[in-house]
Amino acid sequence: MSHDDEVRKLRKKFAAARYPTFGPMLLGIRVQGFRGVADLNLDFTSPVTAISGLNGTGKSTVAQLAAAGFRQPPDHDWYRYYVKHFFPVSVADPEPFTVGAQVQYLYAADTDLGTQTVTVTRSAKSWSGQHRQPERATYYRGFAQFIPKVERRDLSIYGAANLELGAAISLDPTTAEHVGRILAVPYEHLGFTEVLATKKTATLAMAGRAGREYSENHMGAGEGRVLYMVHTMEQAPPKSLIVLEEPETSLHGDAQVRLAKYFVEVSLRRGHQIIVTTHSAAILGQLGRDSVVYLRRAPAGDVTATHGLSTYQIDSHLQREGRAPAGITVCVEDDFARCLAGEIFRAVDRDLLAGCAFLEIGGGQEIPAAVKLLRGAKVRAVGLSDGDMPHNGSDGVMTLPGNEPPEREVFAHPAVKSCFAEAPFEVDLDATLAGVADHHDFARTLAERLTMDEIAVVNVACRAYTAAHEPSDFAGIIDFVHKEVGDRR
Ligand SMILES: Nc1ncnc2c1ncn2[C@@H]1O[C@H](COP(=O)(O)OP(=O)(O)OP(=O)(O)O)[C@@H](O)[C@H]1O
Ligand SMILES: [Mg+2]
Repeated sequence: MSHDDEVRKLRKKFAAARYPTFGPMLLGIRVQGFRGVADLNLDFTSPVTAISGLNGTGKSTVAQLAAAGFRQPPDHDWYRYYVKHFFPVSVADPEPFTVGAQVQYLYAADTDLGTQTVTVTRSAKSWSGQHRQPERATYYRGFAQFIPKVERRDLSIYGAANLELGAAISLDPTTAEHVGRILAVPYEHLGFTEVLATKKTATLAMAGRAGREYSENHMGAGEGRVLYMVHTMEQAPPKSLIVLEEPETSLHGDAQVRLAKYFVEVSLRRGHQIIVTTHSAAILGQLGRDSVVYLRRAPAGDVTATHGLSTYQIDSHLQREGRAPAGITVCVEDDFARCLAGEIFRAVDRDLLAGCAFLEIGGGQEIPAAVKLLRGAKVRAVGLSDGDMPHNGSDGVMTLPGNEPPEREVFAHPAVKSCFAEAPFEVDLDATLAGVADHHDFARTLAERLTMDEIAVVNVACRAYTAAHEPSDFAGIIDFVHKEVGDRR
């Protein structure tokens, strides 16, 4: 199954067979009065959730409270996480939560779409309500998951001279296969070995590669982390809760992409709920819109949660150089729309183009919200939606030419067809794209045929399209942009 198919299947299972597939998963959490998070409502609309946001927005606060959301099965190898473990009160931190602090948990229950609520409140000097939580094996893996033992002065280091090897435990083939795939390393063997040094024992991860055996003391940091993370998820009982803090730490970008795909795959295969905190666009990019939650702290201190990617991009846009961008920000759906809008501006009003920054929002339905958010931050912003999602300008959003996605509009134009039919391209556009059902694949298919970069093909097509029009054809769009950003002409 392709990754996109797995993302769709995950969405379907969540919508139709939540409880049978994922057990009493967390469907929502309302956090009131923890670490400056006054009242935050966050829905988990997928079994895999990545919580992103700038530093200090409350990602770990949510992740930790989620980890304290369940009683543990009697044979669980570790007692359980209580709220008090993550929010200790001390002289250094007299008030990590407010007087009336509470957490409301919403769980899937009983039948397909039933729910159950448990509220944990502070009474006198302890937290009450946690014994009423449902049972689900929980694993919270923060930064200490893989700290190289040398940095911990582990016995395998300081006792190295007297170390004896004990029993070897091989990892099951599935774990080894996934670790190897995520890291793109052809392991011959992966496992753990007991080590003993005068009266004490410890466990060391072991790997075999290119005929050599080495222990975790000689593993790369990313290698060790992935091994421990995957091992946790594969040996956990089915339908566990796995909470991971910034799992991208020490990983190469491509490995982050493969790790995110693994989250979706393992959640489907084993019924786990996986909650990660992350700053990694590579991880966020692999997940469906319902798996991405963005936290944002308003200047007044309130933290809010939004689903989808757009706000993540917007905040990065606002944070660039530490101030709001000076020119006009034009929100579009993707790089094709950006290219078409850019060529239209170039053809009609080059000065306007020079003062513009385009922001790719990802989903067409999120463009109005993006414009609103940016305007709220005093940015001069407009949106240009794809032809198949028309807007009349009233919400600051207008539509690119045509009634269809811009790929269809542009590649169907006679001028574009003849441009590609001529030297130096000399391809028949209709014949090349005949078997391609999804318009998102048009440019890629053509690019492969022409041995060009995809975006270069898009650029040629959009330029041929705009060149075949009169400036007056685009006057509606250009006038709209000027008017919306308050330009006097
Ligand atoms: N007692 C407190 N009262 C108010 N705010 C607090 C208190 N303690 C911590 N905070 C706020 O909480 C933030 C830390 O929250 P948290 O660890 O959940 O953030 P995070 O989103 O995980 O950040 P990072 O991306 O850096 O890991 C701090 O930056 C601080 O602003
Ligand atoms: Mg954090």
